[in-house]
Amino acid sequence: MSERSSVTIDVHLNNQDPAAVREEIRAGLLATPRRLPTKYFYDDRGSELFEQICELPTYYPTRTEHALLTGVADDVMARTGADELVELGSGAATKTRVLLDAMARKRQLKFYVPFDVSEGIVRRVARELAEEYEGLQVHGVVGDFLAHLEHIPQGGRRLVVILGGTIGNLRPESAEAFLSSIERETAQGDFLLLGVQLITNVERLEAAYNDSAGLTAAFNKNMLLVLKSVVGAEFDPDAFDHVARFNHEEQRIEMRLRSVRPQVIPIPELALTLHLKDGEEILTEISAKYTRPQVEALLTRAGFTPVAWYADHEHLHGLALAQKH
Ligand SMILES: C[S@@+](CC[C@H](N)C(=O)[O-])C[C@H]1O[C@@H](n2cnc3c(N)ncnc32)[C@H](O)[C@@H]1O
Repeated sequence: MSERSSVTIDVHLNNQDPAAVREEIRAGLLATPRRLPTKYFYDDRGSELFEQICELPTYYPTRTEHALLTGVADDVMARTGADELVELGSGAATKTRVLLDAMARKRQLKFYVPFDVSEGIVRRVARELAEEYEGLQVHGVVGDFLAHLEHIPQGGRRLVVILGGTIGNLRPESAEAFLSSIERETAQGDFLLLGVQLITNVERLEAAYNDSAGLTAAFNKNMLLVLKSVVGAEFDPDAFDHVARFNHEEQRIEMRLRSVRPQVIPIPELALTLHLKDGEEILTEISAKYTRPQVEALLTRAGFTPVAWYADHEHLHGLALAQKH
């Protein structure tokens, strides 16, 4: 008789200290320049919008990474022998199926751990994958991967994956701290597969974040609605423009919300009245682009040993495979 799939979901976001959440948002709004944490894009609507962005013709990163993974998944599984896939920032896990299929071909597929800040999408993905892959044990974790990594369940021969340019959303010091914390939470011999967007033509990059359908703009403004539910802030999305530009010095795309008029926004929960000037911007996302040497140096500083590098023929996207020794 065939083995049955199973689903377990742990939710850790409720453990967050509300005072710390308020302080994080307040400090960002008062910083110079003003900024907000990227994770607040992702409620259920934000995750859906991101899925739609991934299907846009101008948004090349998802297609490129999908094709790259398809070509290299068997090699990754042969090198790692993994029977457990832990995916940090798993989102809709569309590309994950390529890796799960490769594990299934090797008859090694046992566990999948989707880890994301968006509860709705973790629950959906867990249900879908348990149905699609017979015998798969899915253990979803809803949490902040910068704070709750110790809740990754103990498991088998693990391959931790971070796809979709998620690492690029972190500043260099946070990216290194994040990878170091993964190194601490994994066992000797475990592997990490890290997806990175590579430095390329600026027009192509900016086009990917300024689609004519307005989906990226809606995604950017969704953060204002999330902040309403998190701290009761009454932002008017129509009072902001979406801005996405390449920062040459930092080698990254920066997304901002630009106030279209002077605004006074009281936020009682933060004990703050926000005064925005006409044209003033709030930084909502960075999307850093890397080179292979930068990625390998980052992995090495975090304690991993790089073991393989894969890239598409246009050098738009890279996948670094590294091991904990
Ligand atoms: C750029 S998307 C990538 C999604 C998916 N891996 C892909 O390749 O399409 C980033 C994902 O990370 C999640 N995320 C962002 N910040 C997070 C955090 N601090 N903790 C956990 N998940 C986070 C988001 O909800 C989103 O699903």
